[in-house]
Amino acid sequence: MKKIIIFLIFLLLIQCKQKQKHGLITVKAMVVSARKEAGKIGTDIMKKGGNAFDAMIATHLALAVAYPFAGNLGGGGFMVYRTKDGKTGSLDFREKAPLKAHRNMYLDSLDNVIPDKSLLGANAVGVPGSVAGLYKVHQKFGTLPFKELIQPAIDLAKKGVVVTKKQAKALNKYRKLFFKANKRKIFLDKEWKEGDTIKYIKLAETLERIRDNGKDEFYKGKTADLLIAYLQNLDGIMTKEDLEKYQAKWRKPIEFTYKNNKIISMSLPSSGGICIAQILKSIEPFHIEQYKHNSVKYVQLLTEAERRAFADRAHYLGDSDFVKVPIDSLISDKYLARRMKSFSFERANTSKEISYGKIAGYESNETTHYSIVDSFGNAVSVTTTLNGAYGSKVFVPELGFFLNNEMDDFSIKPGFPNMFGLVGAEANAVAPEKRMLSSMSPTIVEENGKLKMVLGSPGGSTIITSVTQNILNVLEYKMPMQEAVSKPRFHHQWLPDNIKFEPNFDKSIFPKLEKLGYKIDQSNAPVIGKVDAILVLPNGKLEGGADPRGDDSAVGF
Ligand code: GLY
Repeated sequence: MKKIIIFLIFLLLIQCKQKQKHGLITVKAMVVSARKEAGKIGTDIMKKGGNAFDAMIATHLALAVAYPFAGNLGGGGFMVYRTKDGKTGSLDFREKAPLKAHRNMYLDSLDNVIPDKSLLGANAVGVPGSVAGLYKVHQKFGTLPFKELIQPAIDLAKKGVVVTKKQAKALNKYRKLFFKANKRKIFLDKEWKEGDTIKYIKLAETLERIRDNGKDEFYKGKTADLLIAYLQNLDGIMTKEDLEKYQAKWRKPIEFTYKNNKIISMSLPSSGGICIAQILKSIEPFHIEQYKHNSVKYVQLLTEAERRAFADRAHYLGDSDFVKVPIDSLISDKYLARRMKSFSFERANTSKEISYGKIAGYESNETTHYSIVDSFGNAVSVTTTLNGAYGSKVFVPELGFFLNNEMDDFSIKPGFPNMFGLVGAEANAVAPEKRMLSSMSPTIVEENGKLKMVLGSPGGSTIITSVTQNILNVLEYKMPMQEAVSKPRFHHQWLPDNIKFEPNFDKSIFPKLEKLGYKIDQSNAPVIGKVDAILVLPNGKLEGGADPRGDDSAVGF
């Protein structure tokens, strides 16, 4: 009898452990995002009968209030969608360079990079795209009036947002930079602690004007006037003409198959979809499922595919409205098989020996992601950013929001690394009205023609590797969504030639990797990515994967 009881307790413990690996499971609809308040607002919109696109607009605006670290009105982003009837598409609301921008604007007279100019202050700011993006989505897919979608964010801004421990830490960390960028104290510039409430009164007023006057309020109205006056007062080059000319653009997403799955991800000006396609197509011929998850062989194979993809990224990729990018060649099986020919499990390649690949001909840290599925079966995957934490740190007091420092995503000087250590060349040089190359990878996965997964991540260059590893965790290692999101990650990006591992990664494999010639960097990778994802379970229910690395949460019904 005693033995049976022990056995039953043992079974119960195993069940509990397995249960813990799953995230929130709901029947109809879900939002997974960086803040619970935003997820709740998005979910409430779907409860009222709105679709995933309506929920996207409400969630985005709520994040602009509740998560000023990366949620935004003053930034931009990308959306990938799949409608209930399987139609796919994507929207580019990426920032662009002001008309007065030029290729050497971040260099001094000796061609040296001016420290911090592309990162901090008025001239780091790209022309914001978020508001234009939200209106574009509403025009095509919205079912509820825009006024109803923006109101919850206004109410939240007035009521105030409770500061989390992580948020207090971030706000306090950047205080000095807020002062430096604005040349004055901004209202967020004080010592915060967990549990404080911040009311965003000026932001509420801005949102109210947008509610009443529409998109033009941001790009032509009082908001535009205040924004430009503030930037010009800080010697910024952006003008009202820049705002007036801004357009969000529908783009054809990158679509490719990986084994039985179709992957839909963002195309240029984001490198995300192309790089993920290159990495997954490079490893597809290998029997990755036979290698233990996060084992030496697994890390090796992925690292070498990443090394090659990031080398190509640095050379070939830029805004396809400005440069010709050989997308089809770069993701073709033939090209990728040739690229992987020099790979061997016997030793590491080096990034010196792996340059960008030769193409036969030309045919053609801080960000946030949210994933949404509605009860109709529509799926929306959005990654949006100010680039760095609180962007350029420029905060327009009269408007109540931060502006991006997306200009740093250009290659400000060939070979000079940006804030993510990414290097670039001609294809991503600064030019007026050009969009800077991104790594944002909002992604949707189909299996046998049905919606399977919606995912994405912040993290600059590590977005690409985080999204790729989560796809593999689910497709190859059959993990529940929450477990896939929580697993430790690693990252290689060609240059610098080392692998970054998260602190909780199993270190026992490091000596073996080092013996094979891999350099390991544990110094500055506290976390790699912050994936928020939704998995459609075989019974049709939705499982959320909210990344425990942040305050992220899944909300649904
Ligand atoms: N700002 C980060 C990215 O777009 O990749």
